[in-house]
Amino acid sequence: MKITVVGAGAVGATVADNIARRELCHELVLLDIKEGLAEGKSADMNQTAALLGFDTKITGSTNDYSKTAGSDIVVITSGIPRKPGMTREELIGTNASIVKGVTDNILKNSPDAIIVVISNPMDTMTYLTLKTSGLPKNKIIGMGGILDSSRFKYYLSQALKCSPADLHAVVVGGHGDTTMIPLTRLATLNGTPVSNLLSTEELNKVAADTMVGGATLTKLIGTSAWYAPGASACALVESIVRDEKKVFPCCVALDGEYGQKDICLGVPVVLGKNGWEKIIDYRLDSIEQDLFNKSAEAVRSMNSVL
Ligand code: 2OP
Repeated sequence: MKITVVGAGAVGATVADNIARRELCHELVLLDIKEGLAEGKSADMNQTAALLGFDTKITGSTNDYSKTAGSDIVVITSGIPRKPGMTREELIGTNASIVKGVTDNILKNSPDAIIVVISNPMDTMTYLTLKTSGLPKNKIIGMGGILDSSRFKYYLSQALKCSPADLHAVVVGGHGDTTMIPLTRLATLNGTPVSNLLSTEELNKVAADTMVGGATLTKLIGTSAWYAPGASACALVESIVRDEKKVFPCCVALDGEYGQKDICLGVPVVLGKNGWEKIIDYRLDSIEQDLFNKSAEAVRSMNSVL
């Protein structure tokens, strides 16, 4: 198994670090356009192997895609991150051409790779990758819903004073401050609906905090977050590598599912060795479906900018 992470910034390096620690592959390539950055971060990570006990070999590359040849999975994190006060959508102009260029280079060297897109605005970047790569749709996966769901569980666990690991909670729709949809109705604490345990006001606050979860961190840190995005991408990759068939919300091409077509949007999917293998129908109620349709409209208008 060979995995490439494109972009050695905070998110890319954290994805690589998580993948190495969990030994998801034998060969891991970290690539960046900035001279020496990927080589330096790779060497730093390799120097943790003796302490952490992993055998994954990490290779850094300054824009030399031949080193990525034969990758089974490629994670794209390239592009500029958002600054405080910016929306993910404002990055489209710069990031669209970067992501397109990266995808072309990746495909020349790894024509059969499964591609995981993290670059923002993620839903539109995933759509762009789907349209320009010519790969089967099940090989293109945008990472956003897992991260948003993990943030949802965090805020719920704070309100419930419980372990996030005891919660089932999912965010669908777009990966934007106003397009994501925390599915509060379906969230449970070990099978008990959270609506039995928290007031509507508390639940609304949890949902609102979740939706601006990334923006809150960007305001504090001065740039986009990386620990939760890195761990989320790693969980996604792990389910593919180990063929776990886990169900995670991911941004995938819809062809009528959830009432939408010709768009990539976050829905629960089964992740296994073939990429995303199946979309699970959570049977949204009319309010949730309405929100989902609005989210699709917003993402579609962003896609039209491409
Ligand atoms: C986030 O922190 C990276 O978009 C990403 O939400």
